Amino acid sequence: MKKALVLTGGGDCPGLNAVIRGIVKRANQTGDWEVYGSMEAYNGILRDPQEIIKLDNGVIAGIHAKGGTILKTTTKGGPFSWPVKREDGEWEMIDRSDEMVKMLKADGFEAVISIGGDGSQRISQSLYEKGLNIIGVPKTIDNDLSATDYTFGFQTAVEIASDAVDKLVTTAESHHRLMIMEVMGRSAGWIALHAAIAGGAEVCLIPEIPYDIGSVLERIEGRYRRNQGFANIVIAEGAKAKDGQVVAKASDEVGYENVRLGGVAYQLSAELKAAGFTHDVREMVLGHLQRGGSPTAFDRILATQFGVKAMEMAIDGEFGKMVAFRNNDIVTVSLKEATEAYNFVSLDSYLVKAARGVGICLGD
Ligand code: F6P
Repeated sequence: MKKALVLTGGGDCPGLNAVIRGIVKRANQTGDWEVYGSMEAYNGILRDPQEIIKLDNGVIAGIHAKGGTILKTTTKGGPFSWPVKREDGEWEMIDRSDEMVKMLKADGFEAVISIGGDGSQRISQSLYEKGLNIIGVPKTIDNDLSATDYTFGFQTAVEIASDAVDKLVTTAESHHRLMIMEVMGRSAGWIALHAAIAGGAEVCLIPEIPYDIGSVLERIEGRYRRNQGFANIVIAEGAKAKDGQVVAKASDEVGYENVRLGGVAYQLSAELKAAGFTHDVREMVLGHLQRGGSPTAFDRILATQFGVKAMEMAIDGEFGKMVAFRNNDIVTVSLKEATEAYNFVSLDSYLVKAARGVGICLGD
């Protein structure tokens, strides 16, 4: 029997389990491949004793509808920066990538499928350059990978955020309030823009368009002058004012290398008040709710296609590549190409035109 190893890395995202199920079901059809899962990304391989489980039909039954990942995940450490506590109590990051590639070959894994976002796929590319037979599957609610039209998990996050806008509208209207809702997305405004259009927000602020507080104030005041007496703003966590800074802080979690975004809703609220806004304002950070729960049907289907395709790539020996969704088709792209460019919202896109076309103020 040939052996494939699957792992999920980075922040969790609805649809991960559907990918795992797609991989295992397709492998089982061949009769000569079996699939294993490494727990918590690469940690399961590197820990002693190892945490690697066999993924058979019993394990994957019904998991396509479940959020999270049955293999667990982590945003810390990894084979290139494995945290080790020194005798003086400080943490040191060591590179265990060569050792890990050797271990995987010695254990007889002929293919590794890494389901992860841009950071995880950069690790995949580096491991491929070290001779590992690796395949990438793109995941993130942020939709910020440029090689694929959509990542699974994004649509679920948009549903949750749009539903939240709908709910905030009724409470904003009842109290004549301005509600500011902050959504995730890192340096891309995909979730914010989709939720603002779907929910009919008055203002949408995204990282791609640094906002002018005067324009935002003018738009909101205009609504109050017209006696509409309430308004909704959707702001992406990575948005910033013209000449302003992204609201972020370093994490004190060992091995966590990303900055933690969050809090721009409160900053915008303070800026509006400082600029003269006198009506009631409430801020709401939607946070990890956007990543939780069951994937939408669209995400389950996209994730299943990615899983089946990734297993077919393993069968065909197509390594160093990532599966992608392009022009309504499932294709492959090199990991190198997949990790080269960040997927920002294009200001020329029809999505932006549509937002402007229905009168949403984008803060410029
Ligand atoms: O990349 C997915 C994401 O949810 C971002 O939208 C967000 O900024 C980040 O992860 C949050 O990370 P964590 O789960 O580590 O707090």
